[in-house]
Amino acid sequence: MSGSTGVGNVPRQQQTSGGRRGGSRGRRGGRRSREVFRASESQHPQQKDASDDQQDLKSPPPACTDFDVAYFEAYAHIGIHEEMIKDHVRTEAYRDAVMQHQSFIQGRVVVDVGCGTGILSIFCAQAGAKRVYAVDASAIAVQAKEVVKANNLAETVIVLHGRVEDVEIDEQVDVIISEWMGYTLLYESMLGSVITARDRWLKHGGLILPCAATLYLAPITHPDRYNDSIDFWRNVYGIDMSAMLPVAKQCAFEEPCVETITGENVLTWPHVVKHVDCYTIQLNELESVSTRYKFQSMMRAPLHGFAFWFDVEFSGPANSSIITPSQSPLIGLSDDDPVDDIPSKKRTNPNEPLVLSTAPEDPPTHWQQTLIYLYDPIEVEQDQIIEGSVTLSQSKENRRFMNIHLQYSSGGRSFVKESVFR
Ligand SMILES: C[S@@+](CC[C@H](N)C(=O)[O-])C[C@H]1O[C@@H](n2cnc3c(N)ncnc32)[C@H](O)[C@@H]1O
Repeated sequence: MSGSTGVGNVPRQQQTSGGRRGGSRGRRGGRRSREVFRASESQHPQQKDASDDQQDLKSPPPACTDFDVAYFEAYAHIGIHEEMIKDHVRTEAYRDAVMQHQSFIQGRVVVDVGCGTGILSIFCAQAGAKRVYAVDASAIAVQAKEVVKANNLAETVIVLHGRVEDVEIDEQVDVIISEWMGYTLLYESMLGSVITARDRWLKHGGLILPCAATLYLAPITHPDRYNDSIDFWRNVYGIDMSAMLPVAKQCAFEEPCVETITGENVLTWPHVVKHVDCYTIQLNELESVSTRYKFQSMMRAPLHGFAFWFDVEFSGPANSSIITPSQSPLIGLSDDDPVDDIPSKKRTNPNEPLVLSTAPEDPPTHWQQTLIYLYDPIEVEQDQIIEGSVTLSQSKENRRFMNIHLQYSSGGRSFVKESVFR
């Protein structure tokens, strides 16, 4: 029941309940990065050579590492795209967002960062875009080109097989659309490529879909999960197998687990770990994200761990309702907040922009929630304070992996949990 497979190929994978598993896609070796890049150049003569004059004046694009190659190879498999497209909450949110912004998109130029099968590019073409550059470094781009052709959109949608960091587009664009969110929002580190696309091509006053994202953290209780993975060993067919407990805890809870919980598992209002404004965020802000939190449990229950989830919003640049920790009705308590200043309701404003949410109380998505389980639960009373800090940082080994440093204290005891999301 653990997510301890360490598959190492990063993109979202088909999940089963009870943890992140390798599924059918293990770590693969294979092509070297230059081969991926050369293939893209030869298949797409409209792309300029990387030694183009303009490129010389700018800093060179970041190297495509072997980890990146493995990442793009994982995205060449149809299963991952099927899973994403079948996630109706996700895909319909994007389609609705494109339709909501149709008047802006009509007659304009769009770049789709990481087009996959081309679905978002096609939504934009259907909304009347003049031209859509559909960019993907994975071999799925070959299929995207066929899909575009079969839908008679080859005049409008130009599929570029290459990295956003490497391909050349000879014009500025009005719209960037991208589905870049990984588990825990930042795992997979694809947002950096959206920033690169923005800085390379987006016109002043252009539109980014989604425009903003918010990552949340909340303490959870999950007795069923704990019983199933841990307490189970206390009595196995009448045999006391408690000797298995240390290894069972290690095995089940060492790594972050991608699982679906419900609002009933959540002990308090969440805390905002990070708010991302896609118009202004910079690459260096993604290397490490830290926050201190302070929760007040709304019930008496065993604290089994903490859950991360996120949402993204699709408003335009002018009316982006940026959620800040001081404004959000969803947010828990920061260090400076009085603990009794608890918001009473969620999302009360009917004028809010379109939001794609992966919260436990909302319809499930393929992202589920990311859970950090404690090895041993802490019994908390109603109103008991749970406080500490969390740091999410890109792994030095592979920036697409994530180190999670969680410090938590409650009832006079203090702990640290380190996990690696790989
Ligand atoms: C989460 S999938 C989204 C696919 C598609 N847009 C959709 O919504 O179904 C992300 C895609 O982005 C591609 N990708 C990630 N980083 C990229 C980069 N730097 N350059 C080009 N493609 C990238 C991956 O290969 C993958 O196909």
